[in-house]
Amino acid sequence: MKQILDAISAPESTSEDFANLTLPGSYRAVTVHKDEADMFEGLSTREKDPRKSLHLDEVPLPELGPGEALVAVMASSVNYNSVWTSIFEPVSTFTFLERYGKLSPLAKRHDLPYHVIGSDLAGVVLRTGVGVNAWKPGDEVVAHCLSVELESPDGHGDTMLDPEQRIWGFETNFGGMAEIALVKTNQLMPKPRHLTWEEAAAPGLVNSTAYRQLVSRNGAGMKQGDNVLIWGASGGLGSYATQFALAGGANPICVVSSPRKAEICRRMGAEAIIDRNAEDYAFWKDEHTQDPREWKRLGKRIRELTGGEDVDIVFEHPGRETFGASVYVTRKGGTIVTCASTSGYMHSYDNRYLWMSLKRIVGSHFANYREAWEANRLIAKGKIHPTVSRSYSLEEAGQAAHDVHRNVHQGKVGVLCLAPREGLGVTDPELREQHIDSINIFRGEG
Ligand SMILES: NC(=O)c1ccc[n+]([C@@H]2O[C@H](COP(=O)([O-])OP(=O)(O)OC[C@H]3O[C@@H](n4cnc5c(N)ncnc54)[C@H](OP(=O)(O)O)[C@@H]3O)[C@@H](O)[C@H]2O)c1
Repeated sequence: MKQILDAISAPESTSEDFANLTLPGSYRAVTVHKDEADMFEGLSTREKDPRKSLHLDEVPLPELGPGEALVAVMASSVNYNSVWTSIFEPVSTFTFLERYGKLSPLAKRHDLPYHVIGSDLAGVVLRTGVGVNAWKPGDEVVAHCLSVELESPDGHGDTMLDPEQRIWGFETNFGGMAEIALVKTNQLMPKPRHLTWEEAAAPGLVNSTAYRQLVSRNGAGMKQGDNVLIWGASGGLGSYATQFALAGGANPICVVSSPRKAEICRRMGAEAIIDRNAEDYAFWKDEHTQDPREWKRLGKRIRELTGGEDVDIVFEHPGRETFGASVYVTRKGGTIVTCASTSGYMHSYDNRYLWMSLKRIVGSHFANYREAWEANRLIAKGKIHPTVSRSYSLEEAGQAAHDVHRNVHQGKVGVLCLAPREGLGVTDPELREQHIDSINIFRGEG
């Protein structure tokens, strides 16, 4: 690994130098183990502790296939899917790997007794497989997490519709929380030059998801002036949704759970902020019964903040706990756009408020390559900023996932892989200087 790091640290290294590096036979990676998939049986979701299930192992380097690249990973980040993987919910990710393994002899590589997790990376291309022309060893890259086969016509209008669509590092093996990762080269995008490795790695999954969900015509298609209710507005997805709303001339109404998170939203430029803890919303009277009076109380609060208007779009992901309220507070003809169900996936809502008011519920999931590219382009231009609050080492990945699971983190949490420390990798210091205040909004908030 030292040889690889030396090449990355030397500005004069050429593509040929990288191509000539001898790759190690194994590398360090954060994994879950198949024989431990039942380890949390009988425990509540909250009691399941990623520190017990995530391991740092030395694993063999996978064989490089056509259209793929091996990437030296400088930094990665924690996503909620790493939490789901580590607590084996809603199902063990080995189910995905087994299914993928049945697709082809090459896909069989992924079906192993361990799963290298992680769906974000920033790093440097080491090797490219047969048929790759757009990328070469030495390229500084970030990777989005859409893995597709595109053998079916279904995926050719919108690659998210490919029947073999998978989330890399979650539904495939050899993810980004490791010293080396295996990706398809149509996951690669240029690393934003003004960012450090850990800052560049962090937006990938959440930024692309928020872009499709809120901005893209495949999602809510937000326009100028829209009122957008954003749950978890300082969290992984929400911190990018808030920025997209502000940058796109919309009006975010940010829901958070503490004064500290409210202050972060204020620093991003939001004015309408609701602290759901301070205002003590209880949308459920008991496990089976919702309380429409609480939906109304939220709607009234939104009108106070918007000068009497309802929301055009609700940016949904908490799921069961909030969905009834989200459907209720949306304006006539408005859109509830959902990409997740953190608090439970069996939703219930009063359908009268949907059909009588001609509202739409839109499902959204990650992003196609074009959408991920657009989202990364906005980061590279300094129009949307990374939201890293702190970074952990590979050894501390379990703690990092635990903090996200317990919702004690802010924005995004970085993981340093080959990068020996934070702050490295900037190649455009002028652009960085222009945006340094925005880049630092979440810093030290972890
Ligand atoms: N489909 C996709 O492509 C996709 C992509 C990314 C993420 N996801 C999913 O989206 C969800 C959120 O991901 P994330 O990265 O944004 O996670 P995150 O960083 O944990 O942020 C989520 C925020 O939502 C708020 N929240 C959580 N539970 C809530 C509840 N019961 N009621 C109201 N607010 C609640 C919390 O903010 P406050 O405490 O401040 O309110 C929390 O910080 C996860 O389930 C993840 O798996 C899906």
